[in-house]
Amino acid sequence: MFGRKNNGITEDAVRKALSTVQEPELYKDLITLNMVRDITISDDQVGFTIVLTTPACPLRSQMENESIAAVKKLVPGVNQVNVRFDAQVRTDKRIAGKLNIPVKNIIAVASGKGGVGKSTVSTNLAVSLALEGAKVGVLDADIYGPNIPMMFGLSGKPRLDGNKMVPFTAFGVEVISMGFLVPEGKALVWRGPMLHKAIQQLFTDVRWGELDYLIVDLPPGTGDAQLSLAQSVPLTGGVIVTGPQAVAVSDALRGAEAFQQLQVPIIGVIENMSGEIFGSGGGEGAAIKIGAEFLGRVDLDARVRSGGDTGKPIVLEAPESEAAKSLRSLARKIAARISVMTIEPDPELRII
Ligand SMILES: Nc1ncnc2c1ncn2[C@@H]1O[C@H](COP(=O)(O)OP(=O)(O)O)[C@@H](O)[C@H]1O
Ligand SMILES: [Mg+2]
Repeated sequence: MFGRKNNGITEDAVRKALSTVQEPELYKDLITLNMVRDITISDDQVGFTIVLTTPACPLRSQMENESIAAVKKLVPGVNQVNVRFDAQVRTDKRIAGKLNIPVKNIIAVASGKGGVGKSTVSTNLAVSLALEGAKVGVLDADIYGPNIPMMFGLSGKPRLDGNKMVPFTAFGVEVISMGFLVPEGKALVWRGPMLHKAIQQLFTDVRWGELDYLIVDLPPGTGDAQLSLAQSVPLTGGVIVTGPQAVAVSDALRGAEAFQQLQVPIIGVIENMSGEIFGSGGGEGAAIKIGAEFLGRVDLDARVRSGGDTGKPIVLEAPESEAAKSLRSLARKIAARISVMTIEPDPELRII
């Protein structure tokens, strides 16, 4: 073709074509959601950037394929479509303004009882989200058994910057734990106001970076800590970790009831340590009883435990293992759920 630059293709025509493509999780089209930026047209080639609501988007390639197909089909003269991706995690509106830390979403990980793998799941979810390109922090609020330092291979006392603690960073994740601050066993006596204050300080007295997701590892059970947390900070949602056994259902239910009473949305239930030894089904049973989504299961695998003991999370140490793959996929699922939960009020992104 000679003469006509851009082959007669207009930005408007490209936008119109992309307005037929649905964001598969958010059930709105890419233009309404203002996810399309930087449209370029050169001869018979069209390019644009899709700004995802999370870098951990599980349906990126589906959106890519559908966008390419729509533009080729609906815009005459287009031969090639180049899709670029970027991501901008949306801020939970309840957090914005209320909390004086630059965190967009806070996710609490809870379980009815100890030993079900709450810290393990928190650690691997955080590392998985960081691997996807998200900015992530972990706040270990388990004062009775702070295992997060060990699982991240960290020790020592955090540095001070003015009157704030600087979190450690490991595997791209910012980490603060009660374990860095109190001698072993000391916190066991904490109750009520002291516990409340301690948990609050882990948010406000720490120089958190600009985080897309802050994951809070709660102590087991449904006691003071869960209450303190929900009173101190607006939680985007809670994830319940449970075992695969049928008896795990009642534990998970207690954790969920506490969230429900505190009006914390439940993102879903994860079943951990599934397999031949303990069986499976407890997580699904719990999810049905709670009326929450069953997010998936993580196999019982000795490499999960050894990774935790040596400070080398399995998603990095044995990425090909089924357990690691499940954890990576759970992280993407949770990120997508949070996108859905935070989609509505975001005027900044809706202006076209
Ligand atoms: N999927 C799994 N496979 C094997 N061991 C696991 C798995 N999940 C957790 N563990 C191990 O079980 C123990 C308890 O896990 P942890 O995360 O500390 O539980 P919680 O925080 O709920 O008390 C740890 O030794 C951990 O390494
Ligand atoms: Mg723990």
